[in-house]
Amino acid sequence: MPTADSHGYRPGLVDLKAGQISREIFVNEAIYQEELERIFARAWLFVGHESQIPNPGDFAVSGMGEESVILCRDRAGEVHVFLNSCRHRGMKVCRYDEGNTAVFTCPYHGWSYGTDGRLVGVPFFREAYRSALDRSQWGLVEVAQLARYKGTVWATWDPAAPSFFDYLGDFRRYLDLSLDGWDGSEGGSEVLGGVQKWLIPCNWKFPAENFSGDSYHNISHRSVDLVGIGPSGSGRRDMRERQMARRLQICFPEHGHQTGVYVLPKGEPTPPAYQHSSVVAEYFAHCEAERRRRHGDWARVTGSPGEVFPNTALHPRQPRTIAVWQPRGAYRTEVWRWYLVDAAAPPEVKAFLRDYYIRYSGPAGLTEQDDMENWNYAHAASRGTIARRHPYSYEQGIGHEIEEYEWDGLRLPGWVMDLTEAKSSEHNLRNLYRRWAQFMEAESWAELATWRKSAAPQAADGGC
Ligand code: FES
Ligand SMILES: [Fe+2]
Repeated sequence: MPTADSHGYRPGLVDLKAGQISREIFVNEAIYQEELERIFARAWLFVGHESQIPNPGDFAVSGMGEESVILCRDRAGEVHVFLNSCRHRGMKVCRYDEGNTAVFTCPYHGWSYGTDGRLVGVPFFREAYRSALDRSQWGLVEVAQLARYKGTVWATWDPAAPSFFDYLGDFRRYLDLSLDGWDGSEGGSEVLGGVQKWLIPCNWKFPAENFSGDSYHNISHRSVDLVGIGPSGSGRRDMRERQMARRLQICFPEHGHQTGVYVLPKGEPTPPAYQHSSVVAEYFAHCEAERRRRHGDWARVTGSPGEVFPNTALHPRQPRTIAVWQPRGAYRTEVWRWYLVDAAAPPEVKAFLRDYYIRYSGPAGLTEQDDMENWNYAHAASRGTIARRHPYSYEQGIGHEIEEYEWDGLRLPGWVMDLTEAKSSEHNLRNLYRRWAQFMEAESWAELATWRKSAAPQAADGGC
């Protein structure tokens, strides 16, 4: 069992004391295969949103690690997540992205499964099987645990994993910044249009660390800022509150989740966001007032990009999206991006947001194109025999984390790095790799919980 200062994953690969991480963890195929086993088969993963499957029989195909899964609502209204693989010979039982069905019929030999996963039809059951096949044993493989939270659906293959809320810990309050309505109402969001999916030629951890809080890369987006893709036609966003807010990075070492946030001074009214048409401006001004009424002092907190370990990225405000970095080999990632809007927003607001989201994110979004270009070229330039001998640098802010952070009367859960003066830090990025190393080394959830108890900043930084 590792101790507080010895939990290193193959010393030399992740050295958080020195702030150095080997390129091997991004390019090595054997390490990638281990990730599938130790991370993606154990962690809680984002699967989809209930607004994708509102009616009985609705389904949407999704992914968990490299596995194709079916998110569906059975005839009784229960939500399930099944492995999309026939129990007979493994054929994909569902080859559509989404739809509504009474049964999933395998195209290979014709076994069919109900929307609750039961095997309900077997060709030549009486003749070929002499009615002896025990159909109750051959239903679709279902995830070990499923959680529904504010419209989102999460699952894990591991029956020993902690509950979803334990897995989130206090990070849940920051996740809510993405999932609640703009007016602060519980849930209240829906997926706008379909899910965008595209391939990028880099390791999944490149985008995961970027969304964990790479506050250093703004230079990449200079051209987008100049073009002015923001809602009002200037910059990238309409968030003037950022100018008067404290800018923080917040992470949870015992969980591996991290995010950026902005915190307004006490009593400072949030400037109305999204100056576009009067309908849009009025909608968001009304929502801000409502959010303050519901959440009081906590409404001073607004979100910026974050990450639920291991591969779910949050973009809570402008634009408001969830992305999953689906691993597809050490050198390839399939990005899936869900766009969220307030379900109750007027059609004009949804149309306006659709336009803005498309300008910003996704394969055609100008900001995301900047990011992808960096990830793709950086990955390609890191694969060579010589290149992979040299580690990456993650030294910003080592030793400056604040464990108990309070500002202007507001206590914020998590370990905090204040970027208001420091401008940039790699605090949240180190947190991602700290938990990554723990997952890669731990044999059980009991061991991962041991790290939770021993996770003081210096100890945790001392040996991964
Ligand atoms: S693989 Fe599905 S019925 Fe044979
Ligand atoms: Fe970016």
